[in-house]
Amino acid sequence: MNTDLLIVGGDGDLALRKLYPSLYFLELNNCMPDDVRIIGMARTGQTREEFHQKIHTWLKKSIRDDLFSEEKWQRFADKIWFGRGDATNPDELAAVKQEFFTEDHQLVIYLAIPPKIFGTVCNSLNVCGLNHANARLVVEKPLGDSRESFLEINNELSRTFTEQQLFRIDHYLGKESVQNLLALRFANDIFEPLWNSKYIDHIQITVTESVGVGNRWAFYDQTGATRDMVQNHLLQVLCLVAMEPPACLNADSVRAEKLKVLNALRLIPHDEVETLTVRGQYSSGNADGEIVPGYLEEKSDKYEIDPNSKTETFVAIKAEIENWRWSGVPIYLRTGKRLNKRHSEIVIQFKQNRHQIFSVNHSEHKANQLIIQLQPDEGISIRVMNKVPGLDAGIPLKDDVLNLSFAEQAKKVTHDAYSRLFFDVLRNDQTLFVSAAEVEAAWTWVDQIFAGWDAKNVVPEEYAAGSLGPRSADLLMENDGRRWLNEGFELWCSLT
Ligand code: BG6
Repeated sequence: MNTDLLIVGGDGDLALRKLYPSLYFLELNNCMPDDVRIIGMARTGQTREEFHQKIHTWLKKSIRDDLFSEEKWQRFADKIWFGRGDATNPDELAAVKQEFFTEDHQLVIYLAIPPKIFGTVCNSLNVCGLNHANARLVVEKPLGDSRESFLEINNELSRTFTEQQLFRIDHYLGKESVQNLLALRFANDIFEPLWNSKYIDHIQITVTESVGVGNRWAFYDQTGATRDMVQNHLLQVLCLVAMEPPACLNADSVRAEKLKVLNALRLIPHDEVETLTVRGQYSSGNADGEIVPGYLEEKSDKYEIDPNSKTETFVAIKAEIENWRWSGVPIYLRTGKRLNKRHSEIVIQFKQNRHQIFSVNHSEHKANQLIIQLQPDEGISIRVMNKVPGLDAGIPLKDDVLNLSFAEQAKKVTHDAYSRLFFDVLRNDQTLFVSAAEVEAAWTWVDQIFAGWDAKNVVPEEYAAGSLGPRSADLLMENDGRRWLNEGFELWCSLT
């Protein structure tokens, strides 16, 4: 069946910066069906040629030179059309429908517009009959800023589309390294017997960024690190790390297992919010080799900065999953902007047997770690103890690393996270998309943290731009006798 792709907000920032480059990667990889027609819909008037020119300019800006081919661009451009109109207005949408669509084609509709107009656009789609049985709707965060506001948005969507037609993007699920978590856990049987509270001491999930907020200040100030990153990306990663093996690799099984994890997250009581969470906000400092302003001193040509903002640009949380497998295993999450570098990793810290046979003079026997680096350098490492070579009395030990780097493999990847998700939406596969129940459960957990912060008046602690974050985030672990794995392999988590 032929496929049409309608991008509402088709010449907006998201579409130009992210969506067309990702779709181009599908063309580059010969994964774009020949019969696809892509219609970018927007209010601004332009000819098809002008629209092509605009997309071409963005592609040249955002795609590595060695991945850009004029020949592939031409094939891609042949599939792209411009539909003029305001999608909130059913008459204008009907005119675009009349010009481009027939019901015997599959239709993928991508809402690259602010969620506050999702409801009105869905109403227009309904009036025009564009929510027919072969249609799918793709939406992306922010899907609300609380459980309640998410449900409002979701009710608007689900008045027009069924859950099977709704594709909610979390772009972390489109990342190769995040999908590799599924391969690591469920295609390597050696890990499963160890993957529980009997053998694992704790888990760390870190996603740090060196960039600041800059021109996104107004959006970010309403959002903050917890809503922007934890509610979605970090919790999705946590689900893949902690979920039970799904019965099979389809959407129903995978999403059901992720949902169980989210529902088993212990809600943080108000009187524990100060010990189990840390909020931070960056002040000026030296990041990426230059002196940069603090969050409250950012300059934006678009918005007024609120000098009293209490929005967190960093958050660390000690979470717990209350189920048979994970009870008693702390899960430390942290993320923030303007930190020392862009780096995302998962650390699985194994327990150490209390009985040691090696002489303390010869070794500091350390517990093993499995480190999964998600970005920018993908890899998996296992830290093991090894004998120091030589004729020493006894068996002196040193720590070593079994290192599996995917750097070479990663260089061969010629698509991005969105391409993968487009690929799946065109194939009608929801496995890597988030269900309404998951989003709702994630908000329930996050709302409780905000309620605790409000009740206890927890305000962000300053940290210097370019640093590792607020001192309290270190204490969150040090108070438990643990440490963040901060700099590659220099630090061991020392267990007491
Ligand atoms: C987005 C957040 O969802 O993810 C941004 O809104 C953040 O604030 C971005 O910078 C991080 O994504 P990535 O793929 O660069 O890790």
